[in-house]
Amino acid sequence: MTVLQANNLSKIYGSKRGVQYQALDEFTFNVTKGEFIGIMGPSGSGKTTLLNLLATIDKPTSGNITINGTEVTGLAKNKLAKFRRSEMGFIFQDYNLLDTLTVGENILLPLTLQGEEVKEMEKKLVTVAKQLGIDKILDKRTFEISGGQMQRASIARAIIHDPTIIFADEPTGNLDSKSSGQVMQSLSTMQKERRTTTIMVTHDPFAASFCQRVIFIKDGKLFNEIHRGDNRQAFFQDILNVQSLLGGNTDDLHSVRF
Ligand SMILES: Nc1ncnc2c1ncn2[C@@H]1O[C@H](COP(=O)(O)OP(=O)(O)OP(=O)(O)O)[C@@H](O)[C@H]1O
Ligand SMILES: [Mg+2]
Repeated sequence: MTVLQANNLSKIYGSKRGVQYQALDEFTFNVTKGEFIGIMGPSGSGKTTLLNLLATIDKPTSGNITINGTEVTGLAKNKLAKFRRSEMGFIFQDYNLLDTLTVGENILLPLTLQGEEVKEMEKKLVTVAKQLGIDKILDKRTFEISGGQMQRASIARAIIHDPTIIFADEPTGNLDSKSSGQVMQSLSTMQKERRTTTIMVTHDPFAASFCQRVIFIKDGKLFNEIHRGDNRQAFFQDILNVQSLLGGNTDDLHSVRF
């Protein structure tokens, strides 16, 4: 079942002086329910632009996006806000957890916003925290836990209301290799056990090797798309191969690890 359809997406940024830049050029792709997709490409290739359009944070210059049967590119602002709250989850590089709340309270935020019953909320909190191995730290505050734990808490927050799709922007960008591995393992577990659909932008080939499909963008266009088989190590190598074909910024390889 197709959960997200993006047709001929173009984004042209304009400036007041009339200088225009085409960051995305007639980009088309589909996402199947339960897929875990990585988006890679050199710096400036249009990854964040694409993610912002798909996540309805920004509007395309032309083209359209349908999520779960709703054409989001046609939704009015208030409907869009509601749609985003119920159908989407977000994971950021810098976690975006509130330090005035406990870990558990942070995770519960999406349900609090939806006005769910307290008993039901507690049940969902325990389930998701156990799945992510953070059930022992729910009463702690954000400054008492590690970066990897913070990112797992933000995964829990992104997923607790069972959204249609999760968008992650460089989720391992601030983490060391051990924590990155745990976070990526957590995302894969969520994808397997809850059939979550996830789209993740990353520079990190190690993180991308946990995806089932990786899409490479160059100059706002699809450059290549590769699928993972059973072997993550082999997929990691495939990713490195496409990256070297892509050329561009060698900085993109700084985080290579294995
Ligand atoms: N608001 C904006 N106004 C004008 N140009 C923009 C704007 N946002 C992005 N761009 C340009 O569009 C292109 C694509 O930017 P984007 O942020 O999507 O790249 P990216 O692939 O996410 O890069 P990075 O890996 O460095 O995060 C770049 O050339 C960028 O300078
Ligand atoms: Mg970016």
